Amino acid sequence: MDTFHERAALRARLQEARARGRRIGLLPTMGNLHSGHIALLEDLRRVCDISICSIFVNPTQFGAGEDFERYPRTLPQDQERLSAAGCDLLFAPSIVEMYPHGLTTLTTVTVQGLQDGLCGAHRPGHFQGVASVVSKLFNIVQPDVAIFGEKDYQQLAVLRRMTLDLDFPVQILAGATRRDADGLALSSRNQYLRPDERQRAPMLYRTLQQMRDAILSGIDDYRMLESSATGLLEKSGFHTDYFSVVDADSLQPAGAQTRRLTLLVAARLGETRLIDNISLDLAAPTAT
Ligand code: PAJ
Repeated sequence: MDTFHERAALRARLQEARARGRRIGLLPTMGNLHSGHIALLEDLRRVCDISICSIFVNPTQFGAGEDFERYPRTLPQDQERLSAAGCDLLFAPSIVEMYPHGLTTLTTVTVQGLQDGLCGAHRPGHFQGVASVVSKLFNIVQPDVAIFGEKDYQQLAVLRRMTLDLDFPVQILAGATRRDADGLALSSRNQYLRPDERQRAPMLYRTLQQMRDAILSGIDDYRMLESSATGLLEKSGFHTDYFSVVDADSLQPAGAQTRRLTLLVAARLGETRLIDNISLDLAAPTAT
């Protein structure tokens, strides 16, 4: 696997591949790769000829007081993992390479409506930072296909809409959430958890599953379900940012008529903020 730190060299290499008719696939990440990222790479490699992973801890998507400084940076280990998984190219730019003209004045991408609620309400500016850096990566790499995880459901929705609205000729793939054996969704931030917090953390997914089962059993008072799930989490020491049942596409609060639902949660355990979600389709025939 070849690593590129500069846009120009990467572009030259990709131009060659494109001229030979190769289909280019991009996996954007912030590094500190775990099995969830590697699974996305495997999904991506099935549909492209040249796979490229980017690793960039993007300062513009972190708010004041968030974990930008302490976000784990593990480039040598990441390179080994990617190489072993058959990744073709790695793009690992510096902050100056990505933002050569500085951050004081800056062009940004806003996905109105989708970026404001849920995590957006608790992390002002976050999705603008994500949409802006991903649009830069799309312009630098010019991939045919890019993959994002369902784990970050609102991010996926924001980026799908950005791709449509700005006419990026990029196919967006969604990769399923990969979990530890006890159900906790894999995340670079899980390593911040203290041992006792790590033990309690799978409750997030269990609560989502209970809520899904309640909905499948016919309960459609979603506001009541949201407040009882929040209560359960708070009792176990979580501080819940939100627990919401929304329309899977618009991310607006679901009502009794909504067919495709996504249940989303963001909660803090000590210093660590965890997110997770489950989607369900009430129109789909249920398995017997
Ligand atoms: P990062 O948190 O490194 O995640 C990179 C990609 O991996 C995202 O698409 C994310 O949804 C996916 N991912 C993370 N954990 C996963 C899991 N357990 N199962 C499946 N996929 C998982 O998300 C970002 O970086 C950044 O915001 C980025 C899009 C790179 C923009 O800076």
